[in-house]
Amino acid sequence: MSAQILVLSGPNLNLLGSRDPAVYGTMTLEEHLAAFTVVAEGFGARVDHVQSNFEGQLVDQIHGARGKYAAIVINAGALTHYSWSLRDALDVFDGISIEVHLSNPAGREPFRHVSTLAAVVDGTIAGFGQLSYELAAYAIRDILNARSE
Ligand code: DQA
Repeated sequence: MSAQILVLSGPNLNLLGSRDPAVYGTMTLEEHLAAFTVVAEGFGARVDHVQSNFEGQLVDQIHGARGKYAAIVINAGALTHYSWSLRDALDVFDGISIEVHLSNPAGREPFRHVSTLAAVVDGTIAGFGQLSYELAAYAIRDILNARSE
């Protein structure tokens, strides 16, 4: 059975493409998703994507992913920096979880230096712009391969 991957996008990421292009680039969220999906489908995975500007909807998505998805890739946007409910939901997700950022929050304003998610995800990919999502797909591929050896 092919692995299923859930990509979750938080607040304001629906504006990618026109939102602060000097920081986030000019690719739209759909274009990031398409690049991610090409890599994921290349190793036989299937991809679902949900974008929401509402914290509770993202929490519900993570709950619903338990037992269904092999991996969650989450760019929680600004929720990254203060959402303890997203952190707690990810903490009880049983699959692979990867935090993704297009920019490098550690090199930006101090409020972005904290991630409530960092301690409960398997790893974080940040600062690689248009490559960040693709790198997450490669990470999932290699983790799944290592597990099946
Ligand atoms: C972001 C970084 C966050 O600090 C910011 O609030 C975002 C986007 C990124 O992808 O670089 O909305 O998660």
